[in-house]
Amino acid sequence: MTDRVTRRRFIQTTAAGSAALAGLSAGQAPTVFAAEADKPALLGGKPAHQGGWPKWPRWDEAWEPEIVQVLRSGQWCGYGGSGKVGEFEAAYAKVLGAKRCVTTSNGTNALITALHVMGVDAGDEVIISPFTFIATYNTVLMHKALPVLADTDPATLTMDPASIESRITERTRAIVPVHIYGMPCDMDPIKAIAKKHNLAVIEDACQAWLADYKGQKCGTLGDLACFSFQNSKHIPVGDGGAITSNSDELMDRCQAFHNVGRATGTFKGSGSFTRGTNCRMNNYQAAMLLPQIDKLVKETKTRQENGDYLIAGLKEIPGIEPVRLPENSRAVWHLFAFRYDATQFHGLSRDKFRQAMSAEGIPCSGGYSEFYYDGFLDEAINSRGFQRLFPAQRLKAYRESFEELKGNKQVVQTTVGLFNTLLLADRSAMDHILAAVRKIQAHSAALVA
Ligand SMILES: Cc1ncc(COP(=O)(O)O)c(C=O)c1O
Repeated sequence: MTDRVTRRRFIQTTAAGSAALAGLSAGQAPTVFAAEADKPALLGGKPAHQGGWPKWPRWDEAWEPEIVQVLRSGQWCGYGGSGKVGEFEAAYAKVLGAKRCVTTSNGTNALITALHVMGVDAGDEVIISPFTFIATYNTVLMHKALPVLADTDPATLTMDPASIESRITERTRAIVPVHIYGMPCDMDPIKAIAKKHNLAVIEDACQAWLADYKGQKCGTLGDLACFSFQNSKHIPVGDGGAITSNSDELMDRCQAFHNVGRATGTFKGSGSFTRGTNCRMNNYQAAMLLPQIDKLVKETKTRQENGDYLIAGLKEIPGIEPVRLPENSRAVWHLFAFRYDATQFHGLSRDKFRQAMSAEGIPCSGGYSEFYYDGFLDEAINSRGFQRLFPAQRLKAYRESFEELKGNKQVVQTTVGLFNTLLLADRSAMDHILAAVRKIQAHSAALVA
């Protein structure tokens, strides 16, 4: 779709006043829509969207007979990939194009397992994306290793590959890029750096089911990859997770670690057992997940089509910058994110913008905060274990390095995200979203006052 066509559709399908919009060009003054929009709901106007949004999670009664069968069988535990657990593992690996999959009790335990299997040990360092859910940090800390923070590229919201090398020390073992909001990280340069320094790559794909990087699915790009099937996720089961890989050897190690350390396949451990934990998935959970694979495929397409439509419309609005994806890549939009530039909205703060959107019937999130200032990392590095494992000077430099995260700070301050369920609504609802942003922009001066 060309820009010209995109803009024509945008003009046709958004709220009143298309004539005023016809002369619009990128970067034009923020007053451009002022004459043509309805009053914002926050100032007493009619909300751009009424009637709510698709609920989540969604249940289908047609799934029930298979699940009831598992419940009646008494074979609830999916030991070592047996029963429905094994079936789901095979099906999930297949839809990703991965060789193998091992399910876990959640994404957090998938990450703990992957870090252990890639050799992350007490006193090591792991380079992670800072713009992520807290679990990415905490799982590294659980290994008594230091989560070293790469910077975030404000254009992509993902790990900036240019910020990695300067953070590598002799203790670094692994890199954990996070495909946040379902947007693939730029994996080629990340993998090249990992190869050069002999580091493992563990994808945190907990929000990136079926996201695509240059023709390959996220989850097949690193040594190991981790997924979450928590209730809010695109393929939900309450709590659940998975690890995927193209390596039999690594998958056997994951299988052993997550199954109480029982040696498996090519991995013999030091006898019958190796170090491990129990974070297996149950058969009735796998039975809930199995029919959701087809649903995931269909809904991903809908989110992507609506995402494309929103990007085409939003990029025409001064002060709204859609996210840049790596070339030939597809996001799956766990949150549909864009950057908000208040200077193009008469200084209307991002919080007030979100409030105005919410009044229009369009809830949106401000995304993640600068977690590293929340105190949990101070708590960790001041703990007895960390004090024993790391030289005081290293911990001091680590603490000071948070100030270097300039890109991440920008991202934290300027990102706005629409919840993924909004992208499951019909096309007219996407027009309501675009109309709401235009309306707020048109009346930004009044909203600031
Ligand atoms: C980026 C990221 N990593 C890790 C996790 C942890 O997954 P879980 O909640 O299944 O433990 C999540 C889940 O929200 C996540 O979004």
